[in-house]
Amino acid sequence: MDLNAVVDSTLALLQSHLGQAGIAVRVEKGVLPAIEGNFNELCTVLTNLLMNARDALATEGNQGIIGITTAKVGGEVMLRVRDNGPGIPAELKERIFDPFYTTKPVGSGTGLGLSIVQGIVRRHQGRIEVESEEGGGVTFAVYLPTLEKRSQTEGGT
Ligand SMILES: Nc1ncnc2c1ncn2[C@@H]1O[C@H](COP(=O)(O)OP(=O)(O)OP(=O)(O)O)[C@@H](O)[C@H]1O
Ligand SMILES: [Mg+2]
Repeated sequence: MDLNAVVDSTLALLQSHLGQAGIAVRVEKGVLPAIEGNFNELCTVLTNLLMNARDALATEGNQGIIGITTAKVGGEVMLRVRDNGPGIPAELKERIFDPFYTTKPVGSGTGLGLSIVQGIVRRHQGRIEVESEEGGGVTFAVYLPTLEKRSQTEGGT
């Protein structure tokens, strides 16, 4: 499958919602090789990252911007979501993937989003990286192996 199709499909659902929240969305799609993956699960990954960015930007006074980038990086395809929100304090960074960890008010977050995201990414033999400086926004980058790389590591059956 094509990771760019995940971006198109997810944005088709969420673009107007993000626009109504006053958030500017910038998309940069690279030329990507095929990956093996579950389309709906990868839409869930992007949806969760976008909803987290939206929530982070809701507390900011300045223009909220979300950048979505796809690119081929070595033997992997990358899906990156950036926001210019308040960032994640260093001491909390370890915990954000824990199930039920949330900083949101009771009733507005279950704390399951990133734990679900991490489970999906692992099942795709990928990895997720987070970069954040307090006050400097957050970048989540998901890396998934290309079909070619997967067939090499699986012994080329
Ligand atoms: N882009 C972001 N900017 C700032 N903090 C973030 C961002 N993404 C995640 N976080 C932090 O990580 C925590 C855990 O995120 P996660 O998606 O797992 O749960 P949640 O968003 O709180 O709840 P749910 O996803 O179930 O609605 C959030 O409560 C928030 O503190
Ligand atoms: Mg969430």
